[in-house]
Amino acid sequence: PAPGWSIDADVVVVGSGVAGLTTALRCAAAGLATVVVTKARLDDGSTRWAQGGIAAALGEGDTPEQHLDDTLVAGAGLCDGAAVRMLVTEGPDAVRRLIGTGAHFDTTESGDIALTREGGHHRRRIAHAGGDATGAEISRALVEAVREAALHTVENALVLDLLTDAGGRTAGVTLHVMGEGQHDGVGAVHAPAVVLATGGMGQVFSATTNPAVSTGDGVALALRAGAEISDLEFVQFHPTVLFLGAGSEGQQPLVSEAVRGEGAHLVDASGTRFMLGQHELAELAPRDIVAKAITRRMELLGTEHMYLDARHFGAEMWEQRFPTILAACRAHGIDPVTEPIPVAPAAHYASGGIRTDLRGRTTVPGLYACGEVACTGVHGANRLASNSLLEGLVFAERIAADIVEDRPRAGAAETGDDHGPSPLIAPEARSTIQRIMTRGAGVLRSAESLAAAADELEALHNSAALAVEADEPKVAVPGVEAWEATNLLLVSRVLVAAARQREETRGCHWREDRPERDDENWRRHLVVRLTPERR
Ligand code: SIN
Repeated sequence: PAPGWSIDADVVVVGSGVAGLTTALRCAAAGLATVVVTKARLDDGSTRWAQGGIAAALGEGDTPEQHLDDTLVAGAGLCDGAAVRMLVTEGPDAVRRLIGTGAHFDTTESGDIALTREGGHHRRRIAHAGGDATGAEISRALVEAVREAALHTVENALVLDLLTDAGGRTAGVTLHVMGEGQHDGVGAVHAPAVVLATGGMGQVFSATTNPAVSTGDGVALALRAGAEISDLEFVQFHPTVLFLGAGSEGQQPLVSEAVRGEGAHLVDASGTRFMLGQHELAELAPRDIVAKAITRRMELLGTEHMYLDARHFGAEMWEQRFPTILAACRAHGIDPVTEPIPVAPAAHYASGGIRTDLRGRTTVPGLYACGEVACTGVHGANRLASNSLLEGLVFAERIAADIVEDRPRAGAAETGDDHGPSPLIAPEARSTIQRIMTRGAGVLRSAESLAAAADELEALHNSAALAVEADEPKVAVPGVEAWEATNLLLVSRVLVAAARQREETRGCHWREDRPERDDENWRRHLVVRLTPERR
């Protein structure tokens, strides 16, 4: 479809989590005409679901160096040391600036920022808000700041494709907007700088902690635009997600690592603490290790979940420290004050994404990526708990600085005006894709399971392509659900191809048929760039 309306700007930010809104606020403060577009409402997306908090060396005796060490260990040999050093060094001040923007963090009786622990951290280093509602508070503060600054925002806007000029530079994006009055239908924002902050792709799996909007739109756009993508095989499964019954689909309630950080135990049905003896940090080992131990125990005992036991916290601590989790458990008929919580791993975070440098620049001039959609090098093969909000914050500031310094210019948009992904996949394919991915590319993978997933995904793609070629009436009708299904299929195909190629086990990529880490052959990244004929 050709754009029916357009907006001109200096920079368009796609996405409204911590990464997108921080970038937009900084760009606008520097005088750039900034437009924020977001797929649902400004406060939708993953940021507001973040519970545990934001990691930074803020505590007495803690240092960026110690934070760096923990991040590198979790990243299992694939972090970019320079990117991590920058993250942990700039992190504490970035958190203080976030507080300056209006976010209220929990404090101790003496007025210092209260800090908790999570998996992989050797220290109390996680700042939190509202007990276990850190993301909600950050989102509230940033949305309020955006409204106060009267930024131009367009909600219900699904990004479709990148516009480029004759020289291949970024010239804006096309969007599909619903219900925004003057901006309804397919339109375009023309801008020489585009910042993708579209979040993750948890919806490629059946059960995930991610909201319904996390459909990999940014990575899919970047693939179609010819940008480099890296590390897509490293999908992090959060170890402790409330188990709602076999076959539960969609977004599932998270039970934060901070619950373990405050002393909860992982036990099996007989009450055995199976993490003891597995790792020096027991329940607080990095999350890939905990997720694997839970999965192994479930297999050994033939059960569908384990338990998180925090009855010893007592009612008062549960109510004050973890009100969100307490309410979610009780809403599902479980009272953590009197009974252990059934938990199982579920898809949580994409450690890979669109490859960027230390200023958030992708390989397409003028196109930036920030937050979960990006692969900046700070996470390696497995993100350290609570480093994601921090990454969004720190890189947002770097990206804004780069755009302000560079003042990019673009010629007239030459490509993309009549784009829209092709072939379009019917919305009904979404749950089929999720089932294929869960079966073939979930916590446990093997050459066999991945090959089966690749074949099934290819068949879905080919039947849609054939329908387009034959001009069949069953071709999917353009619209948000069809575009989301199309994006899910594209990122799933690339993810499975990378997972097949990486013939080892490392970080959160667990190959049952290749159970060892292979530093000799695989201490390297898998970088993907689609050739024009494959886009
Ligand atoms: C949690 O609260 O356990 C999630 C933290 C994270 O994903 O970093």
